[in-house]
Amino acid sequence: MNLICSLKCTVCWAVLAALFFGGSFLFTFWGVQKIIRSQIISQTALIKDTDQWDRFLELPFPVSFVVRFFEPINIDGILYNNEKPILNESKPYIYKLYIKKENLRYDDDEEDSVNYNRNMIFEFDNSSETLDTDEITIINPVLLASLQLSNNIERLALAGCLEKLYKPDLKPEIFISVQVKKFLFDGLNFAYANDTDLGVACNFVRTKMISMTADLRNIEHIDEGDGKDYLRFTVFNYKTQNYAKYSPDGRFTINRGQTDINQLGQIIRWSSGTLSIDGTSLNIWGTRTSINNESCAAIKGTDSTIYKPQIEENENIYVYNTDICRYVITKFYKANYIT
Ligand SMILES: *[C@@H]1O[C@H](CO)[C@@H](O)[C@H](O)[C@H]1NC(C)=O
Ligand SMILES: *[C@@H]1O[C@H](CO)[C@@H](O)[C@H](O)[C@H]1NC(C)=O
Ligand SMILES: *[C@@H]1O[C@H](CO)[C@@H](O)[C@H](O)[C@H]1NC(C)=O
Ligand SMILES: *[C@@H]1O[C@H](CO)[C@@H](O)[C@H](O)[C@H]1NC(C)=O
Repeated sequence: MNLICSLKCTVCWAVLAALFFGGSFLFTFWGVQKIIRSQIISQTALIKDTDQWDRFLELPFPVSFVVRFFEPINIDGILYNNEKPILNESKPYIYKLYIKKENLRYDDDEEDSVNYNRNMIFEFDNSSETLDTDEITIINPVLLASLQLSNNIERLALAGCLEKLYKPDLKPEIFISVQVKKFLFDGLNFAYANDTDLGVACNFVRTKMISMTADLRNIEHIDEGDGKDYLRFTVFNYKTQNYAKYSPDGRFTINRGQTDINQLGQIIRWSSGTLSIDGTSLNIWGTRTSINNESCAAIKGTDSTIYKPQIEENENIYVYNTDICRYVITKFYKANYIT
């Protein structure tokens, strides 16, 4: 009797134990994953006053922004002997880039969106092997722009005035040497209004130059009053708050991921001046699509500061880059760490 009972109990315990283990396996494989997933969603979606929200407002670490120049080293050969340019890659100029989101609006719950401008602060990393006061040789960007934007007659008028108009930071030459920090951020200034020997003709050319460059994001018209009225060329100043015009980095409307976490960070609309009318496509690339229906004009992807969680290996990650007005596709690969 006793024996049978204990046998029964053993069986009973075995069944219970099996159920328990089975249950816990199920729980591990399904339940825990589900819980982790819901945790990930609640911690990565953009919800006000969460850690993720703070990380979104300001990236907690600077991003490395590396610039390299390709300097022509056979300038005389190019100019006088029809030689092909031989380019020498410079050492890297490394900036620490701090990205903040500003002028936020967070009121469209139905669209599940937030919109904002980016503010970027560049700080030269002076621990690197280069200095931002180094001089580099480049193709004169203002001369190129002047030639591209003018017709033959205007070019004739321009030719006689370039020497005067390009003062003080530029020369009417194809290749010029400039300081890295002036070229990238501080500005190469030219076409000063206070230059008394401009004369009527060149003053007219100056006015024309100002109106022709009004839509270029690399050339700003600065008027500080007291005759300090001039043009300023920079490569990246438009990304910063020192920029004089509207922000060409644009205004982003992205998905908060509260409704669908897979949409987190995806750009819904991006607008910048006249570059994009509807916010979802650019009007500078035409309407043609490639064989796989990719279009240069499409605005899609994230702004590179926020991504959905649980990206799969080999998955295409779209990032919209405002410098080239294009989205780019990157892939996520798991690194192979040697243990
Ligand atoms: C090419 O660039 C390197 C730095 O990247 C520099 O050390 C070298 O002097 C350059 N060569 C010429 C011919 O300018
Ligand atoms: C590097 O930059 C930091 C912060 O701007 C400054 O305090 C430091 O003096 C700089 N070092 C050099 C060698 O210029
Ligand atoms: C014009 O103004 C600039 C900046 O203030 C100054 O450097 C330059 O000497 C002035 N030129 C003349 C001709 O007054
Ligand atoms: C591209 O789009 C067209 C029209 O919408 C469609 O007929 C075609 O199947 C698509 N091609 C691919 C590769 O997706």
